[in-house]
Amino acid sequence: MPDSLDAERIAEGLLPSLRPQLRKVTVLDETDSTNSELARLKPAERHAHAVLAERQTRGRGRRARHWHSPAGGNVYFSLGWRFPRGDHAFSTLPLVVAIATANALKRTGLEGHGIKWPNDVLVDGKKLAGILVELKSGEGGATAIIGIGINVRMPSGEGEDPKRLIDRPWTDLESHLADEHRPCDRNALAASLLDQLLASLNRFEKSGFDSFRSNWKKWDLLENGETTLELDDRTLTGIARGVSDDGQLVLETGAGEIRTFHAGEVRVFRGIRAF
Ligand code: BTN
Repeated sequence: MPDSLDAERIAEGLLPSLRPQLRKVTVLDETDSTNSELARLKPAERHAHAVLAERQTRGRGRRARHWHSPAGGNVYFSLGWRFPRGDHAFSTLPLVVAIATANALKRTGLEGHGIKWPNDVLVDGKKLAGILVELKSGEGGATAIIGIGINVRMPSGEGEDPKRLIDRPWTDLESHLADEHRPCDRNALAASLLDQLLASLNRFEKSGFDSFRSNWKKWDLLENGETTLELDDRTLTGIARGVSDDGQLVLETGAGEIRTFHAGEVRVFRGIRAF
């Protein structure tokens, strides 16, 4: 593979000021899921450990969905992180991770992308990156496994037609990069992702989601737009009004009523199901 993922190159690509915070980078050819790989490690092995794989056989998405993870040039990435205090608003962590991902993608030369609450990175209404944060609390603290999947160069190889395997509008990074930024260097992208995440996790621990609010507003694709929410038993339409302090989506419904929704309870579409 011309640009195989390489643990050393990723670690060397980190900002020198952040490098001491990362304990380990592991690159695998194949695993079931990089999140599951980290979850199987002893707790002490998880913290500040980044696991990447060229391919996942059981990539997992939010809401028990499958994440299409063929070999050939995407990024499947997970970082373990232990929070010594258990009193953060952890429901906002996926939003913070989405901001870090959007920033890292900007560094590769991508433009015109944004975040669809709670944490999908989209370009032109199509999904380019997804995030799955899994949290375990206990013994006074909490451990997060932060999983990020980025479609960089989706292969269209035999037997694995992504058009058939992904049931939502999707795209990949290289389809949107100008010639001078192509091909994307995945090791540089992974290093940039780690830079952004490490800095963001520090800030989150010190100041919480509040310090990310202005950044969130910058990336939020829904704010002030017509938004449709699919709940288990009904559909609601309103105007999205940003997020609450605990990361819920704020929706102003027709009667001027303000309601908030957890990420787990709804599917979101901009406009009347535009994306
Ligand atoms: C989603 O949008 O539903 C979340 C997708 C998250 C995919 C990433 S790929 C790396 C990590 N390992 C997994 O099994 N899932 C996450």
